[in-house]
Amino acid sequence: MTTTSNNRLANKVIMITGAGRGIGAEAARLFAGQGASVVLAARTEAQLIAVRDEIAASGGEAAYFAADLSQASSVERAVRFTVERYGRLDGAFNNAGIAINVASLIDEQEEDFDVIQSVNYKGVWLCMKAQIKAILETAGSGSIVNTSSVGSLKGNPGLGAYGAAKRAVNSLTQTAAVEYGPSGIRVNAIAPGTTMTDMIQQWVSINPEIIEQISGKTPLRRAAEPIEIAQAASWLLSDESSFVTGVVLPVDGGLSA
Ligand SMILES: NC(=O)c1ccc[n+]([C@@H]2O[C@H](COP(=O)([O-])OP(=O)(O)OC[C@H]3O[C@@H](n4cnc5c(N)ncnc54)[C@H](OP(=O)(O)O)[C@@H]3O)[C@@H](O)[C@H]2O)c1
Repeated sequence: MTTTSNNRLANKVIMITGAGRGIGAEAARLFAGQGASVVLAARTEAQLIAVRDEIAASGGEAAYFAADLSQASSVERAVRFTVERYGRLDGAFNNAGIAINVASLIDEQEEDFDVIQSVNYKGVWLCMKAQIKAILETAGSGSIVNTSSVGSLKGNPGLGAYGAAKRAVNSLTQTAAVEYGPSGIRVNAIAPGTTMTDMIQQWVSINPEIIEQISGKTPLRRAAEPIEIAQAASWLLSDESSFVTGVVLPVDGGLSA
């Protein structure tokens, strides 16, 4: 488990989507190390069990619920499980996402477009719908962080539908922040740049130079490790960011600057 001296998430119950690997798994380890009880959601049960067991072995508190976040009933069951298991919901890191089949707009397949929207865009909406209700009914106030992408901030050649879905996430984030701020729920997004996970590897298999190419345009001249993205999410979920809401925070080494 990733531990820090910071206990900033102590006593919070946090749902993390896409927690089986990559950024979400690293966030689960970090948040648990910072005192949160975490509920891990994704489709691949074996990966969720592995992360849950790793956190438990390090003395952290974690449970998992296998869910397809593009399906409303699956999302609702995952949120209900969280509340039944821990009695409340204080926050969520809506991080699950897919990036498939790099292609220019005219070559992008309609079925790929639809599946990207169903997970990256509709999935975040479904999650917030269920989570905001659960937070209001239990903890009363809380914090939600959605994972967008640096690709949402301008044109996104090769992943047009993905960039559009992530820009929709930015819009949903700001709308939720405005609608639920008066109720004490903060809603923010993080927009990661290139991050060393399985997701980026599919791009590397098409273009082995892609990480060097993007790093060359990135002021910090490198890709991120998943922990660097998780740390930004942790801060936004914590009370340390208590006056921050409606923000889309680039965590991109300066790529969008
Ligand atoms: N890596 C990057 O460079 C980068 C850059 C910008 C933004 N991001 C964003 O960061 C987030 C995490 O990406 P990552 O790099 O950690 O990717 P990853 O390693 O591929 O992990 C993605 C996670 O999302 C889950 N997921 C995908 N579809 C799902 C569905 N329908 N229902 C439930 N869970 C689903 C996956 O689990 P299952 O497949 O088991 O369901 C997995 O746990 C994504 O939103 C991604 O768009 C990544």
